[in-house]
This record gives sequence, structure tokens and C-alpha cells, in this order.
Amino acid sequence: MDTPIYNYVQKYAAGNGARLHMPGHKGAEILGCERLDITEIAGADSLYEADGIIAESEKNAASLFGTAKTLFSAEGSTQCVKAMLYLAVTAAESEGKPIVVAARNVHKSFVQAAALLDFEVVWLWDENKEFSLCRCEITPEQLERTLKGLDRKPAAVYLTSPDYLGGTADIKALAEVAHKFSAPLLVDNAHGAYLAFLDEPCHPMRLGADICCDSAHKTLPVLTGGAYLHISEKAAPYFAVNARGAMELFGSTSPSYLILQSLDLANKYIAESYPQKLNRCVDKVSRLKEQLKKAGWSVYDSDPLKLTVEAAKSGYDGRELAEFLRGNGIECEYADPDFTVFMFTPENKESDFCYLAEFFSKTSVRQAVKKDILYMKPPEQVMSIRKAVFSKSEKIKSENAAGRVLGRTAVSCPPAVPVAVSGEKINEDAVKIFKRYGIKYADVLL
Ligand SMILES: Cc1ncc(COP(=O)(O)O)c(C=O)c1O
Repeated sequence: MDTPIYNYVQKYAAGNGARLHMPGHKGAEILGCERLDITEIAGADSLYEADGIIAESEKNAASLFGTAKTLFSAEGSTQCVKAMLYLAVTAAESEGKPIVVAARNVHKSFVQAAALLDFEVVWLWDENKEFSLCRCEITPEQLERTLKGLDRKPAAVYLTSPDYLGGTADIKALAEVAHKFSAPLLVDNAHGAYLAFLDEPCHPMRLGADICCDSAHKTLPVLTGGAYLHISEKAAPYFAVNARGAMELFGSTSPSYLILQSLDLANKYIAESYPQKLNRCVDKVSRLKEQLKKAGWSVYDSDPLKLTVEAAKSGYDGRELAEFLRGNGIECEYADPDFTVFMFTPENKESDFCYLAEFFSKTSVRQAVKKDILYMKPPEQVMSIRKAVFSKSEKIKSENAAGRVLGRTAVSCPPAVPVAVSGEKINEDAVKIFKRYGIKYADVLL
């Protein structure tokens, strides 16, 4: 597969001409990569009016992912989440505010989109389990019940899958329900670009989603910030036609060409040896999970490239475990009181697997941590997300926030999943959950 963006920049840099254009470093190597960091000069195409090398590279990506259209983002899934919601609400033909039905474990970019686009959210809550910030399992029956109960047609159904722990939704079944009610299914697949290349592909584009985003940088060998917005072959044509305009609305006019080159090179990498390497890596992670289980550790049922240790069930606070590991030269992706999450790709060295296996075989499993089980009574939404975000607010200690209305959403990052959402009256459950996740301050309305 060709790499038109990379080839163009290499040739330009090798020409060593006078750079009387931006960026200000002029190719002088201070960090080391400046030679390849250019802007939209003649021949370099332009991300939001792409008809040259960027458009060619995006077409290559679309053919790899099997989509009607794939667009590059140099500003992560954060940009794509807003763009896909913009597409859904502008396509919706309902009277009144558009409604988006969303599983509650959204990334904060969803709440930002709700504030900017002023849509109404009907939340789907995990009906079965104790509260866990990242997780929100939704059944097709629950979705059907919710959609039936709406007074108007929703603009979209919105899911986050895989979630930060590696939990995945039954996208195929949920897509069928959404489509029965003529609602497009949007999936935040930030953690799952690689799912398209498994022996048994299970990327949302295969399973019936209409639009999804992937943070290429999370699971593929792509620089931080590189992401895709995918539009399905089966989606309404409106989405593909308007996708670029939607991305432009939320993007910088100076996208990074380093990131675009990285996305371009990833096409070639995927087309060549990636699927074999990926499937070997998946086998190794799966063997590692078995090793840990044999040693007595509780391991969460996660997507194939994540290893999520159920720390509390194994007698540890997940953050304590992360700290021990840090002392042993191992940095995890995420830890909270209940879980410690590790992310692998084929780019990990063999020794990374060995270190982790050794650590967990040498460390003793303890009695499960005794803790208060937290439940979350859905907070009352007293005003729209937009109104709350655009109102005057003050920062207070979250332990004193009960009864106050949340202004800007309170999150810890990672996982940047909100406990309470702008415009909600903070209840006692939310205060306990802030404490559990170390969220010290809340932004509340005056
Ligand atoms: C579920 C989820 N969605 C969206 C995002 C935003 O992705 P990005 O960092 O690529 O902007 C993240 C980031 O961690 C995420 O975890």
C-alpha cells in the first residue's frame, strides 16, 4: 500500500529548500522531528479540503477498515466524538431538541458535545451491578424499552465500546434495536481500532454501527492524537457527504503533519504484517491472563489487548498495585480502587510480558478487600447540559457538593468518564463516588 503523505514530506525535507512558511522552527532540529513537521504548503493537501495526498491516504484507510469513508483526525477521538454527534443531530428531523440515547459511561468529549450542540441526553444506566465508573452494560431489551418510551424519534443511540476496562457491548444486537427505531448507532471505539484486524474481526463497522471513531494512537503504532472517523457503507449517505465539514467544525486549522504521516504509514503497516503480529500478540495476552488466573489473581473479561486485574477481588487497591509495579519498572495504563489495567500491542517487547508474569507470580494474592458497595441513584437533571456549562460556577470541595448543581463536568483523567454530568443535582451517592475515585473538587453553579 502506498504512503503518499509520508513520501511527499520526505521529498520536501530532502530538497532542503528555504522554508519561508510556518512552522517557526523552519525544520531546524531542536526536538529532532522538525524536518518532517510541515504545514499546508502547495502539494501537501489540506485536511479539511482534502483532494490530494491526504484524500488518497484516507481512501487507503477506508479500504483497510471496509468503510464508505474514513477521515483522519490529528486531534484524537475527542474531535471525532463531537463530529459524529454533530452529524447525528443535524440529520435528525424531529421537532424540539434532538435526543441522544447514551450508555452512561461516556468519555467527557460526549458531554462537551452535548454542551456545544445542545442536544438532550437520555441515559442508559447499568441496571444490574454495583457502580463502576468505566462500566455500563446495556441489554438489547433495555435499549428497546427506552426507545419505546421516548416521545419522539431519537437522533442517535450512542455506546462506548470497548470501555476503559476492556468491557465490550453487544454492538450487533444493539444496532439491530437502534435501527428498528430508525436511529443510527454511534460507537465510541476509541480503544478498539485493532478489532478490525483480528482473526475474527469485531470492529463496530462490521457489527452494524453507522458511525464510529477509533483512537488509532491507543492501539496501533500511531503518534498520540492520530484517530479515525469511520462512516459505514450502510449508513445514510448524509453522513459521508457531511463528515469532513463536521470534523472541520471541531478541529484546528493547523493539524499536525507528523500525526498525518504516522496515520499514513500505519496504512502500509496494517496492509503488510499487522494482522499476523496482532493475532500472535492476542495469543500472548491470553496466555498471560491464564497464568495470572492460575496464580490466583482475579482477571476481568476484557477485550483481547487489555489485561485488567481485578485488584480489589485479589486483595489490593488497584492504585497500590500500580505503585508496586512502578517500583518494578512497569507502568500501567489505568488504576482505580478496584482495577489495574494494562494495554498490550505487538510493539511490546517479549520482556514486557515476562516482567509482568514474573511480578504477578511472585506477588501473593490476598483476601478480597472489604469495601462498601457503591450504587448510583441517577441524579436529577435540573437543567440542560448546555445551560449548566454556560452558567457562572465556583469550585468547591466535592465532599460539600451534595444538593448543588454541577457546572462543568467532574472527571478524573484517565478514564475521563464523568461521575455526574453538567446540570445534574449532585446526590449523596455521587459524593461517595467522588471520594472513591479521588475527585477532590466539583465545579458547581452559583
Ligand atoms: C472511551 C474514550 N473515548 C474517547 C477518548 C478520547 O480519545 P483521544 O484521546 O484520542 O482524543 C478516550 C481517551 O482516553 C476514551 O477513553
